[in-house]
Amino acid sequence: MFDAKLEYYSSLEHKVRWGIINGAQSTDVEGIMMNEKKSLIAANWKMFKTLTEAVSFTESLQREVGPLEDREVVIAPPFTALAAVRNAIWRADFKLAAQNCHWEEKGAFTGEVSGAMLRDVGCDWVILGHSERRHIFGETNETIQKKLAAVFRFGMLPMLCVGELLDERESGNTFAVIGTQLDRALAGLDADRAGQLAIAYEPVWAIGTGKTATPEQAQEVHAFIRERCASLWDKMIANRIRIMYGGSVKPDNVDVLMAQTDIDGMLVGGASLEVESFKRIVQYQPFGETN
Ligand code: PGA
Repeated sequence: MFDAKLEYYSSLEHKVRWGIINGAQSTDVEGIMMNEKKSLIAANWKMFKTLTEAVSFTESLQREVGPLEDREVVIAPPFTALAAVRNAIWRADFKLAAQNCHWEEKGAFTGEVSGAMLRDVGCDWVILGHSERRHIFGETNETIQKKLAAVFRFGMLPMLCVGELLDERESGNTFAVIGTQLDRALAGLDADRAGQLAIAYEPVWAIGTGKTATPEQAQEVHAFIRERCASLWDKMIANRIRIMYGGSVKPDNVDVLMAQTDIDGMLVGGASLEVESFKRIVQYQPFGETN
């Protein structure tokens, strides 16, 4: 295992991916595309934080985290704090996300918020298809597909969540479930847009439970997701897509997770609510080194 990893990290792909070789020196077109790929570390605050708490967190984190060359931070506060967090963001490597959106631009949809409104407030990203939306609020792959198209239409980028329930994993259906979620939510998405996507693999049994997928379990599913994207579009596009892991990500497991070949980011719930723990996650070291 260690040898295989060593081999990977010394490969061209890895060097390009982490910016060790820059695009100008590489003649590998795919490598140049990958060199632009920064990892994404996203804080999903769910239904937590008042305005004051959201702004004070955003200010502290920006002050405390040093320059980030190979990664971006995404903050997803509740709708009520979006405008305030937008105003508090001054760093170019910090982006704003909403946690959901409706697919229509406007209309008689009491309680909903449209993609046009989210763009208006300054969102860069929208999280879609989170398992809490699917399992508590009954969202389907079909509505997620409409939302995903709307997010692009209104000039933002989707972070599409997929993941299996515990009984689906135990009955050997993980790949079937995730394959279906991907095929349906990504139906009709053209190649130009596909490369800008982020997909978050969040095993439902790992969300908020303290049970993280092992790095091997996560890598296996991430590789499957990348292959599926290659079959939907092509390998080059699949390599550009950021595939994030979510589910009990913590300061003490982020390094080993980020060291996996196909893991390009983290979607963090509980551990994103405190500056100290989220700062450590943002400052992950993919080799598991400490200093
Ligand atoms: P967790 O949540 O980090 O608290 O497990 C992750 C998520 O729901 O995105």
